[in-house]
Amino acid sequence: MKKEDDLRKVVLIGTGLVGMSMAYSMLNTGGIDELVLVDLDEEKALGEAMDMSHGLPYSKSSLKVKAGNYDECKDADIVVITAGAAQKPGQTRLELVTINAKIMKSITQSIMATGFDGIIIVASNPVDLMSYVVQRVSKLPTNRVIGTGTILDTARLKFLLGEYLNVSSTNIHAYILGEHGDSSFVPWMNAYIGCKSMMEYIVEMNIDMNEMHKIYKEVQQAAYEIIKRKNATYYGIGLSLNRMISAIFGDENAVLTVSAYQQGEFKQEGLYIGVPAIINRHGISKIMPLYLNNVDQRKFDKSCKTLKEIINNELK
Ligand code: LAC
Repeated sequence: MKKEDDLRKVVLIGTGLVGMSMAYSMLNTGGIDELVLVDLDEEKALGEAMDMSHGLPYSKSSLKVKAGNYDECKDADIVVITAGAAQKPGQTRLELVTINAKIMKSITQSIMATGFDGIIIVASNPVDLMSYVVQRVSKLPTNRVIGTGTILDTARLKFLLGEYLNVSSTNIHAYILGEHGDSSFVPWMNAYIGCKSMMEYIVEMNIDMNEMHKIYKEVQQAAYEIIKRKNATYYGIGLSLNRMISAIFGDENAVLTVSAYQQGEFKQEGLYIGVPAIINRHGISKIMPLYLNNVDQRKFDKSCKTLKEIINNELK
């Protein structure tokens, strides 16, 4: 990261609904000086920059928004990639791997050709595999290529558990681990409400564990259900991206479930997948290993196997 007094600059690659939801949410969080919008459709990027900028006088933000090209990556702190084909109704994220891997490779080559040496955040799906491609092509240190992973799944879990248990979602410490997709899971043994074990709490409250499983299913199916109704998801992931950017610029050491490169912390190696990690100005400061019981370790291993098969068959 640049010196403290340097401008805090983000370049967004892809000015579709996800990217622009992130951009718009930045207006309310501050801490970023410059946002550059890059898109194949240059007129679209310019229109988005104009539209956001014209509203600035009525926002408390001092964010400078402009359209630009890849040259703007050279002195950027963070580049966010949201470009690529999006899930269609009923389509899984994994079905996007072939088309989006090609797009990721091209985008990453353009970013790195500028001499960029910051942090890349990947949101394009299937995000665990796209993060793997971006890191391989960029050759950046693995801690500086971060996928959104299960950060949104975890937010959905916190929200739904908070609603069901009538507890503030900020006090729900429960994570979704694994693929950002159908093979994700909740390690319930590691879930807490405040500092009380979730398992203890639901026994004391006579809550049927099946209700918890139903809530996980709602999380797992959330994107399909939203896409069925509005053809895309974007506010949740936009806010999630903004949360990651704030943790980096704020040097927060925040624990977020992002897609991180595995080097044995959860007994798996050689892939990106969603795990709790400490995020600060350097990117992923460290992955936070959890003790998983045998059932949950098997779920994690199965999720990794799903992704590794695609890596070996399509991305090597
Ligand atoms: C979703 C997209 C970001 O889960 O995959 O909404």
